[in-house]
Amino acid sequence: MKAVVFDTHDYDRRALSEANANGTHALTFLDVRLDEQTAKLAEGFDAAIAFVNDHLDEPVLERLAAGGVRLVAMRCAGHNNLDLAAATRLGITVVTVPSYTPHAVAEHVFALTLSLLRSVPRAVSRVRDGNFSVEGLVGSLLCGKTFGIVGFGQIGRVVAGIARGFGCRVVIHDPYVKDTAADVENLPLEDLLARSDVISLHSPLTPQTRHLINAARLAMLKEGAVLINTGRGALVDTLALIETLKADRLGGVGLDVYELEEKFFYTDWSNDVLPDDVLARLLTFRKVLVTSHMGFLTREALAEIAQTTLRSLGDFEAGQTLKNRLS
Ligand code: NAI
Repeated sequence: MKAVVFDTHDYDRRALSEANANGTHALTFLDVRLDEQTAKLAEGFDAAIAFVNDHLDEPVLERLAAGGVRLVAMRCAGHNNLDLAAATRLGITVVTVPSYTPHAVAEHVFALTLSLLRSVPRAVSRVRDGNFSVEGLVGSLLCGKTFGIVGFGQIGRVVAGIARGFGCRVVIHDPYVKDTAADVENLPLEDLLARSDVISLHSPLTPQTRHLINAARLAMLKEGAVLINTGRGALVDTLALIETLKADRLGGVGLDVYELEEKFFYTDWSNDVLPDDVLARLLTFRKVLVTSHMGFLTREALAEIAQTTLRSLGDFEAGQTLKNRLS
């Protein structure tokens, strides 16, 4: 199948090329993101393969359809950046990669959590600078703490298992989950926020979950709580988060995602002035760690994402049932 792949980096091209080693599909890799200007580059292709920060709103999907694209393959789990109703109306089939190893994101949650609880980045930079003082770096244990998980899906469940391994009490908030194990309490969100020492967000971004963590809910967090967001940036009201950080009420904040990340994440801005005052302010807090939407970024996940995406292309071409079909 002729497919154009948007927003690719070396690691994407390598993983997809390895998964396509037998040359089944003709893949064209582009650096640019998919948006209204770049959609015309998909002309003449059967499929467009897109990622988390590509724009797949109605006008873009209309251009894709007009150019002959019949399949959009999201090489990610989330699809909040795609207008599914418009795709259906235009006769474009949409597939995602709903389940690649949830351990990739789940383990990143603990990379962030432990880095914050034990001040690892500050400790490393002090020692590198020849400063062996540990003043101000007293940490706290994860063992014995209450770990709150918002969204008890594939990733949330793996996070729960790891948290239990650390000796945490696990509480969750998921209005759609009924089958929790006996030792997992499914609490109203407000109760989870008030009781948890660490809160980790794993619900999808929907109109209902946008700014799920707003000023009122941030005020419910325990003094010294750690907030981790590896879900989607807009689950948290960033301006409200900044006010809470300024009041120095939180123990730490780990963000793998940011509301306005698409302009910055996956791009080298190190030689430029950062034109986003909110992101720039976030980066000034010593208790905040930001990573560039890399929770998934493991060799294992990239290989699985590539294989699942290309399998969907093959199944679509063969007219077979699509396991990961959205529309
Ligand atoms: P999933 O679909 O297996 O689980 C999501 C869970 O959230 C479901 O159990 C659902 O019932 C629950 N949920 C829905 N609305 C909710 C609400 N209002 N409050 C609480 N829970 C709610 O999804 P999965 O695979 O666990 O991924 C979760 C999210 O993680 C994705 O939607 C995506 O946005 C994000 N993600 C981030 C990655 C990264 O690299 N940082 C990589 C992969 C996913």
